[in-house]
Amino acid sequence: MTDPAAGPVAGPVVGPAGGPVVGPAVGPAPVIEMAGIAKTYPGPPPVHALTDVTLDIRPGRLAAIVGPSGSGKSTLLSVLGLLDVPTRGRYLLQGRDTTDLSERARTALRASTLGFVFQAFHLVPHLTCVQNVALPLVHLGVPRARRRPQAVAALESVGLGHRLDVRPTTLSGGERQRVAVARAIVHRPAVVLCDEPTGNLDTANSARVMDLLTGLVAQDRAVVVVTHEPEVAARADRVFKVVDGRVS
Ligand SMILES: Nc1ncnc2c1ncn2[C@@H]1O[C@H](COP(=O)(O)OP(=O)(O)O)[C@@H](O)[C@H]1O
Ligand SMILES: [Mg+2]
Repeated sequence: MTDPAAGPVAGPVVGPAGGPVVGPAVGPAPVIEMAGIAKTYPGPPPVHALTDVTLDIRPGRLAAIVGPSGSGKSTLLSVLGLLDVPTRGRYLLQGRDTTDLSERARTALRASTLGFVFQAFHLVPHLTCVQNVALPLVHLGVPRARRRPQAVAALESVGLGHRLDVRPTTLSGGERQRVAVARAIVHRPAVVLCDEPTGNLDTANSARVMDLLTGLVAQDRAVVVVTHEPEVAARADRVFKVVDGRVS
């Protein structure tokens, strides 16, 4: 006869995030889960930019997306970033199904969960570094008094605590990209999405930006980097290769 109090618990146990835990812990749940994702641009003629993409990305991982020009990398990043809606399939972000969200709900989820870094920096030229970095906080409705200290902390974390109140136009390319990284992380997003973040940088500045991105991974964020550069892909935990809209 078994003692129910001492025996293994039958049925699912509720995990810390409210989800069922079956068996021993297998690491953190994926923050990104895509299943059967397709994206067709209507055209004419229609372009099948993504076909049956299934992948997942866990917190604390650096994922690289590589592949030839026109293969669908930017489309994949746009779908991951909730900037574009897939034609088919399921995309869960932090376990939440994003596929049927209203435009307003997608925007809110994007603002709270994601940070973006682009090849061309996309900083606002007439704002100072602090003001640029604080922009995601404005969108999130963080009160004015709390924005500056958070933006300053983010700029300090990328080594730019001495460039707070200058305009990004007075900075070097490497410094501008570090401002962009600060802007991408100021609201502590779960996922940072980067499209060719080192594409405009020399070797030393590329390495510095990659050091920052791997530092985020060490803080349990998921970082996704589209890249052409083998040195960048070599630092990833996982490389997704996109060819003709398919991921392997
Ligand atoms: N807005 C769009 N409308 C129509 N076709 C598009 C659009 N954006 C991208 N495409 C097409 O989708 C395919 C994948 O493009 P993209 O994702 O930009 O590739 P990559 O980033 O790998 O170069 C290409 O054939 C491209 O021409
Ligand atoms: Mg592209």
